Amino acid sequence: MRIAVFASGTGTNYRAIAAAAAKGQLPHVELALVLSDREAAPVLAKAAADAVPQAFVDPKAYASKVAFETHILALLQEQQIELIVLAGYMRIIGQTLLDAYRGKIINIHPSLLPSFPGKNGLADAFAYGVKITGATVHYVDAGIDTGPIIAQEMIRITEDDTLATVTEKIHQIEHRLYPAVLAKLTEKG
Ligand code: GAR
Repeated sequence: MRIAVFASGTGTNYRAIAAAAAKGQLPHVELALVLSDREAAPVLAKAAADAVPQAFVDPKAYASKVAFETHILALLQEQQIELIVLAGYMRIIGQTLLDAYRGKIINIHPSLLPSFPGKNGLADAFAYGVKITGATVHYVDAGIDTGPIIAQEMIRITEDDTLATVTEKIHQIEHRLYPAVLAKLTEKG
């Protein structure tokens, strides 16, 4: 299955997926494209180093979200992408992509949804004082982090934890969970 990873930032989740693929743990996944809405996103440099095709699509260059996503859709079709994997892509997917990739877009979110959706899920959960949080992989629908849940994993927050240590713990589980979900979703080839 040819996948496109969409990311806006550092790309540690992209890196975990690429590492799993390199180790042969994703035999039915072809990393066909990394797409970012930020030109300076480190994830693009990592994809280049891995010789994975990359695309930067500047949202400011388009008059509307529809025009922006129509351009993205053309890139995806050109690369024959079958599954979109959001990995720290900090933009809401609009109707153009949702219609074209119904049930074929997944996201990872750093909280136990439906608690703490949105841009700052991890920090919001920590600030609230929850003692259990985690990460969720889910299908993307028109809402914000509302689509059907595919998998979740939890961590405990102790008195010694800081936002930094919780972030580290969440990243650790994300980096295991996302490749595992991808392996499962694509196992039928
Ligand atoms: C990840 O923790 C991911 O769960 C989160 O952004 C981070 C990206 O890290 N996504 C969201 O908050 C989406 N609402 P990365 O760039 O190192 O993979």
